[in-house]
Amino acid sequence: MADKKYLTVAIQKNGRLNSDSLQFLGECGLTINFDFKLYDRKKSSKVELVCVRDDDIPRLVAEQICDVGIVGKNVFLERKIALEANVATPVKNFEIIRNLGFGACRLSFAVPNNIVFEKLTDLNGKKIATSYPYLLKKFLLENNINAQIVYLSGSVEIAPKLKLADIICDLVATGNTLLQHDLREVYCILNSEAILFTASELSSQKQLILSSLVGGPVDG
Ligand code: PRP
Ligand code: ZN
Repeated sequence: MADKKYLTVAIQKNGRLNSDSLQFLGECGLTINFDFKLYDRKKSSKVELVCVRDDDIPRLVAEQICDVGIVGKNVFLERKIALEANVATPVKNFEIIRNLGFGACRLSFAVPNNIVFEKLTDLNGKKIATSYPYLLKKFLLENNINAQIVYLSGSVEIAPKLKLADIICDLVATGNTLLQHDLREVYCILNSEAILFTASELSSQKQLILSSLVGGPVDG
């Protein structure tokens, strides 16, 4: 459980959001020690920094082990759907505090260059590989598309080559990974960027730490 006197902030351990998250927190006034490993406690600003895998951050915040987290909106929404659907202990209070303006990417369908794609209904009957099965399932349901979802936790771009799937639904930032794998982006289902979020009513003490950290009044 998060220390009552400290605001515990979870950020990505490594990967594309790590250094931008640290830079953002530095701009918020924290003295950032870029050498720290997984944990750092800032006595003067009453902030604890925790570095973990980004997929774990929503659960750690949902379980109030951490107070707030920084992840891509894609990870936030995916895990939000999963955690809200948990029958045993559904989590209801996920709330975006603010968009952070870095880590821009999109969740898109991409197809092998030799495959024709003209309209969304072309997805019917296809196998689609993704690391975002909840967001994909929601999109398919909302658009009345009947397709099979194949889950891969990473390297999704290899799925068509391995005949695991016909199409992929994966993150695109620069587009280089798609290019390298002879895939082309055909339809974006989500625009994403890094966000700061919480999943609980923070105590007034923690609200104060948060608003002095990120400025202005903060809800949640
Ligand atoms: C992400 C994403 C794409 C790639 C997109 O993968 O899943 O594969 O980056 O970036 P680009 O458009 O700039 O090439 P990541 O590197 O996080 O690895 P993973 O696929 O193993 O998760
Ligand atoms: Zn990838």
